[in-house]
Amino acid sequence: MIRVPSASPADTLALGRRLAGLLRPGDVVLLAGHLGAGKTLLAAGIAEGLGVDEQVTSPSFVIIRTYEGFLPLVHADVYRLASLGELVDLELLDEARDGVLLIEWGNAIASGMPGDHLLVEIEMGEGNERVIHLEPRGAWKGRPIEELSA
Ligand SMILES: Nc1ncnc2c1ncn2[C@@H]1O[C@H](COP(=O)(O)OP(=O)(O)O)[C@@H](O)[C@H]1O
Ligand SMILES: [Mg+2]
Repeated sequence: MIRVPSASPADTLALGRRLAGLLRPGDVVLLAGHLGAGKTLLAAGIAEGLGVDEQVTSPSFVIIRTYEGFLPLVHADVYRLASLGELVDLELLDEARDGVLLIEWGNAIASGMPGDHLLVEIEMGEGNERVIHLEPRGAWKGRPIEELSA
């Protein structure tokens, strides 16, 4: 697990862009943290790093959006759906087969996700301060995420 401090929205966006460089088809990234922590902003940075031109917005109401970058990016927010369980999990995984799956509040459905994933938890501090915890699980333990704390 690594911890990356963020002092501003720009820092969080930049971390997302760098994280995108580690992503491969089939990857699952679960985003955790309170409302307003910066999950969607981090997702926007990842999308930028993946070459997505479109503006990334919160998928809260539509639940899931797909963007075309160097890899397809499937961005979901399961805040309201956690209780639906496995059905949702399977659909998301299928949708993101050839791309990257990014799920806000994904920690709530981690048990239905593949064991190989990156869990990112954004901890809120004073004002704009955040601490972004990156916890590789399963095969993600072999990825060079330490690069991101440099
Ligand atoms: N260091 C920071 N990292 C990310 N967001 C920050 C930071 N400081 C302030 N913010 C603000 O917090 C809000 C995060 O919103 P958003 O990404 O939609 O959160 P979430 O998706 O977790 O609910 C934005 O308004 C952003 O400008
Ligand atoms: Mg959000």
